[in-house]
Amino acid sequence: MDVQTLVELTDNLLFTKTGKHLDSLQRVILQSTLEGKKYPEIAENSHCKYNHVKRVGSELWQLLEDVLKEDDIKQSNVRSILENFHFSHISNTGNDFVNINSNHINICPENRQSPTPKNKSSPTPTNQNLNDTNPENNYDLSEAPDLYCLCVREALQSNRHTELTTLKQWIENHTRIITILGLTGIGKSTLTVELIQQIKDKFDYIIWRNIDNYPSCESLQTNIIQFLSQTDFPSQKPEKLANSQSINNQLIDYLRKYRCLLIFDNLQEIFASGKLAGTYLEEHENYGKFFQQIATSSHKSCLLLLSQEQPKITSGNNHCQTLKLDSLGKSATAILESKKLTDEDKWLDLINLYNGNPLWLNIIADAVEDLCDRNVAQFLSCKNLYLGDLEPILERNFQRLSELEKQVILWIANQETAVDISNIPPDFPLSHSDLWKGIQSLKRRCLVEKVMEIEGSFFTIQPVVKSFSKILLASEQ
Ligand SMILES: Nc1ncnc2c1ncn2[C@@H]1O[C@H](COP(=O)(O)OP(=O)(O)OP(=O)(O)O)[C@@H](O)[C@H]1O
Ligand SMILES: [Mg+2]
Repeated sequence: MDVQTLVELTDNLLFTKTGKHLDSLQRVILQSTLEGKKYPEIAENSHCKYNHVKRVGSELWQLLEDVLKEDDIKQSNVRSILENFHFSHISNTGNDFVNINSNHINICPENRQSPTPKNKSSPTPTNQNLNDTNPENNYDLSEAPDLYCLCVREALQSNRHTELTTLKQWIENHTRIITILGLTGIGKSTLTVELIQQIKDKFDYIIWRNIDNYPSCESLQTNIIQFLSQTDFPSQKPEKLANSQSINNQLIDYLRKYRCLLIFDNLQEIFASGKLAGTYLEEHENYGKFFQQIATSSHKSCLLLLSQEQPKITSGNNHCQTLKLDSLGKSATAILESKKLTDEDKWLDLINLYNGNPLWLNIIADAVEDLCDRNVAQFLSCKNLYLGDLEPILERNFQRLSELEKQVILWIANQETAVDISNIPPDFPLSHSDLWKGIQSLKRRCLVEKVMEIEGSFFTIQPVVKSFSKILLASEQ
């Protein structure tokens, strides 16, 4: 059986059994494996990191094991297992399900979407198409995290209503780059999944990429160009991508021709640890140039950056916007309710102590159950703020800090009240300018917050951050 037929049959089988088609990377891995290629070559051809390809491959073999009820499927035996399965299936079911005739295959037509972009005949798709349903092939959300359940979706529509409205407004206004900024667990990815649900009809293409899966900016861009070129310009093969500038230009051409929403998740991974926030790793400096080009050239697409650390992008005329995600506030009580905690009158105290961060509250609610039998009052009676399973999460954040930032955050953590940075003590070990630099950088990581008072602006840190700064940094001194 030829490879293409085998891939289509397998895709059809998976859709029948799971309701989901192969995503673009799974398809590439399956097809390449059937052609005898190994993971290193597949990773190189698909411009992804080897580990990512290997992980997606292993998950795919696992999925096939479940669907085919076979044991131990791997790269070396998947072809023979699939061929045996499909031959016996075809001979058992006759010809009404699949029609294999030389290289032509006809598979339940309602299951496959046409790969034709909806605006093929019109290169300027905008408002007239807003109510059209985009073909599924034009979305690739395979790298979006799967953290979305109905109850979170319902909660999010009300507790992030303002943020969703702002984001939709910016998208409507053709903002070129939107950064969603916030500490780990505050809900950047979840909010973006919901945003996509609400605005998907406004885009011709929506592509979500986890930046950590790609070794370089060029490989990520080339991967996106490959995806776009599968459904677009059928007669026009992707140009040979010689250098980073020509890759930039080719991608920008697509962003001009079609309204694309590109989502780059976990952006902080391209920034260096131990340096001030937003400093690119040497090997990732091209991202900076690419973002700058997206911000300053004219096109009709939008790049959404999800990050724990603010990138430095300069542009005029509101082409770039940043939304910082903060506490869920009172609406986070729904999380505590779902965990069946008691002492409702103390819930707001718990929420404020843990920064209204949904991930942190979920983790702490488990601790309240384990240690205090769901009794919030007893949990709060602990003299020091309990961090428990939050410690490794915070540790990863703090590992990224520069020495200057560590000094500054520890100083703020040891103050009773919010600090006035224009009035620093005479014995303070840093220069004024270093202190300001440190505070600005910590603010770009959402670790320090500005509070406006009548007397001017002051800086403070959240209780969890304060507590962890003292534990970790004081021990390092
Ligand atoms: N608005 C919300 N209401 C209730 N729960 C939420 C909300 N937003 C996110 N969550 C839950 O909080 C957890 C963390 O969310 P998410 O992974 O989106 O955070 P994140 O900011 O993307 O974190 P990271 O920076 O680590 O990627 C998830 O389990 C999610 O279900
Ligand atoms: Mg995330």
